[in-house]
Amino acid sequence: MVHIRAMAKNDIAAVSRLLGQSWRRTYSPIMGEDTVARLSDEKHAPEKLAAELADDDKMSFVAERTDGSIAGYAMAAMDGNGDVTLNRLHVEPAEFGMGLAVDLLHAVLAAHAGIPSIALEVIEGNDRAIAFYRKHGFEVVERRPAAHGVGGHASLIMRRLLPMA
Ligand SMILES: CC(C)(COP(=O)(O)OP(=O)(O)OC[C@H]1O[C@@H](n2cnc3c(N)ncnc32)[C@H](O)[C@@H]1OP(=O)(O)O)[C@@H](O)C(=O)NCCC(=O)NCCS
Repeated sequence: MVHIRAMAKNDIAAVSRLLGQSWRRTYSPIMGEDTVARLSDEKHAPEKLAAELADDDKMSFVAERTDGSIAGYAMAAMDGNGDVTLNRLHVEPAEFGMGLAVDLLHAVLAAHAGIPSIALEVIEGNDRAIAFYRKHGFEVVERRPAAHGVGGHASLIMRRLLPMA
């Protein structure tokens, strides 16, 4: 059994580890091991995650197994215009295809009830993630050079419109 809850301070080490492993596994074939290691070590350092947790405009969720281990994580951020971006969604491979990712997505959406849409950026070539997002109502709205220092790669901006209450 896995349950979704808001991330807490004592999840930081586990989430940092999960992100480091997931980035290396997912992006090394696309952008090379060295680039991925550099970017991930910088972005997913525990102090960075702690700052995100303390930021009221960012919402982080974890999927916790009954033994207390963390099997998945999602983080969404709201900008000054109220536009929400799903910045991260990562599930351990042992749990792929088990519905955990959509449960995390639903937790993010429930926490932002009333928003008209949600966007995300996904690196071109991350076909499993793109298939997942398409399956859950996201459509490609733009293709552009990848952000976050991922030089030389393209990314897709996907957006899902949400029914208004
Ligand atoms: C993205 C992620 C959260 C999705 O969760 P998941 O449990 O794997 O998602 P699902 O299994 O429900 O959906 C993936 C779909 O892609 C399909 N798929 C798998 N590999 C694929 C490939 N190489 N090309 C196209 N589709 C693929 C699966 O068959 C499945 O579709 P189906 O349900 O119709 O069979 C998870 O794969 C993950 O953590 N990936 C690594 C991190 C990552 O890339 N995060 C996204 C960053 S933007």
